[in-house]
Amino acid sequence: MGNDRYLTIALGKGRLAKKALELFENIGITCDEMKDPNTRKLIFVNEEYKLRFFLAKGPDVPTYVEYGAADMGIVGEDTILEEARNIYEVLDLGFGKCRMCVCGPKGAQDLLNHQELIRVATKYPRIAKDYFYNQKHQTVEIIKLNGSIELAPIVGLSEVIVDIVETGNTLRENGLDVLEVVCPLSARMVVNQVSMKMENERITKLIADLKGTLGQN
Ligand code: PRP
Repeated sequence: MGNDRYLTIALGKGRLAKKALELFENIGITCDEMKDPNTRKLIFVNEEYKLRFFLAKGPDVPTYVEYGAADMGIVGEDTILEEARNIYEVLDLGFGKCRMCVCGPKGAQDLLNHQELIRVATKYPRIAKDYFYNQKHQTVEIIKLNGSIELAPIVGLSEVIVDIVETGNTLRENGLDVLEVVCPLSARMVVNQVSMKMENERITKLIADLKGTLGQN
């Protein structure tokens, strides 16, 4: 079978994309064009390996991969859980490590302990709902926000938030604490289900090479 088809890899814009490119460099796949901080280009080609990389908003990466517009993607586990797309999750890349947590002022701990009907602000309503309803069996009101989630308990929109905590700096600087840990998170590689069959050899080799450089072999 000829290998003239490009394999397309969707990268979540920002920190993860930068780390992902470093990882590909470790296995000899470079894409210098993509590192130009001033570029507005969205798609980058590596002719040698017949790979095509593109940058997308994190939450859109699982969508591109499910529909096969990208054969593979690199995205945070938080996004994979929230988007719940039909895709294969094949590799923990070990970077982008953080935790999904319930956070709030210290006083909100009592409300959690007593299973009060509280308001929970979050960018991750599916994860929050699963945690409170299915794991804790606590009825809450979930309010979807799109960013700066830490504002919500400070200005009285909600009692707690469900959000990503990495260094903890945002919480500290806003007088909030981690009250409960929902789950650990890191960057993952995901694969389209049809591509996994049709391009199995190339994709399996790429995964094996990445595992090798990650010390997972
Ligand atoms: C994320 C997250 C927290 C912060 C956590 O926000 O929502 O606000 O990072 O990181 P820290 O523990 O290292 O402080 P992001 O910067 O992605 O922006 P957002 O508020 O627009 O979601």
